[in-house]
Parts: sequence; C-alpha cells; structure tokens
Amino acid sequence: MSDSKKSPSRAPRTGAPVPPKWRKDVERVLITQDQLARRIRTLSREIEKDFTGRETVVISLLNGTVMFLADLIRHLSLPLRLDFMGVSSYGAGTESGELVYTKELRLDVRGRDVLLVDDILDTGRTLSRVIPKLRKLKPRRIKTCVLLNKQARRVEKIQADYVGFEIPDFFVVGYGLDYAERYRNLPFVGVLKPELYQSGS
Ligand code: IMP
Ligand code: MG
Repeated sequence: MSDSKKSPSRAPRTGAPVPPKWRKDVERVLITQDQLARRIRTLSREIEKDFTGRETVVISLLNGTVMFLADLIRHLSLPLRLDFMGVSSYGAGTESGELVYTKELRLDVRGRDVLLVDDILDTGRTLSRVIPKLRKLKPRRIKTCVLLNKQARRVEKIQADYVGFEIPDFFVVGYGLDYAERYRNLPFVGVLKPELYQSGS
C-alpha cells in the first residue's frame, strides 16, 4: 500500500495481430504472451527481494488472478502458503458495484507477511475494502501486487506495492480478466471492442 519505488513497465506498443479466433471481440492486443512472461519474471524477483526469510501467505483474489497467480508463484522461490478470497465487484457490466464475498480466507494470517494479489487495480474500491478486512486479522504486514494498474480510473487513495503494467483507460480482457465471465482464457491481454459492452449483452 505504500508508495511504490519501483517503476512498472508501461504497457508496450505491441503491433501484434489479434488471433483470428478473437478478432470479432478483441480490438487489439495490449500485452502479448511474451511480454507477460518476461515482466512476471522480473516482478517475482522484486517480490522475492522483499520477502526473504519468513514464510509468506499469498492471498489471491478470485477469479481474475488465476493465470497471473499461477505464473507468478512458480517464479517465487520463497516458502509460502496459498489461500484465496472470492471477491466479486462487477455484475455483467464494466462499472464496479457492491463487493460480494464468495469465498472467505481459511489460513491464519496473524503475525504473518501477506502478499495480496489481484488482477487489476482500477477504481481501487476492491482493495480499499479487502485490506482493512485483512488488517483485522492482525498480519505482520500486507503488501499488494497487481498485474495491471489503471491509474486514470482511481477513485480511492490507494497504490499497489508491485505493479506488472501501467495501462491506459481501456476495458481489457484475457489472461484471467473477464467481461461477464468470458474471455479469461485468452493467453494475452486485449482491449475489448467497446460495442460489445456498450450495447449490453
Ligand atoms: P476496482 O475495485 O475498481 O479497483 O476493480 C477491481 C476489479 O474490477 C478487478 O479485480 C477486476 O475484476 C475488475 N476490473 C476492473 N477493470 C477491469 C478491466 O479493464 N477488465 C476486466 N476487469 C476489470
Ligand atoms: Mg472481474
């Protein structure tokens, strides 16, 4: 939650073509599979440096973190335990609404170092509610890690400690991120065609 000293990569210009199967829905590729893989390796090194010595509890927010988490933790050479919290903030739309907990934490985090992982930091409403909830469980410290940061949309005063990529204000899907629970399986991060959500589905 503290101001990050690190400089996350700006989402690079890719020029990579959208695979034909997804052209109907995806306007362009924002971050390619290769770029994701490379950045996640460097990100995991940044995290490792800060978390050596003690066992870490990694808490991942479902469902958007599935791919990011799987790739991140296989590069983390740290003793860790893994748990999930189910948090749902979006209905079928692209605006965040009420936060609903669909799965509660099971591990005891008292006195522990916690790494809280989410897919994207957008308005900040999700993390600014989840963090105080975790604080009540008295962990030693909580550091936050997000794959994507959409700074332009921020409403709450919150920053992540580790950010994979800074991205502009586009609604993105893929690599775990969804629109109405779809597109999580795309291996890249792509910009969803606005007509898909503007018309409602
Ligand atoms: P926040 O509470 O507004 O920061 O949003 C956090 C949650 O909203 C994320 O965990 C995502 O599930 C969802 N979200 C925000 N922006 C996007 C996006 O561009 N694509 C897909 N999901 C998004
Ligand atoms: Mg989502």
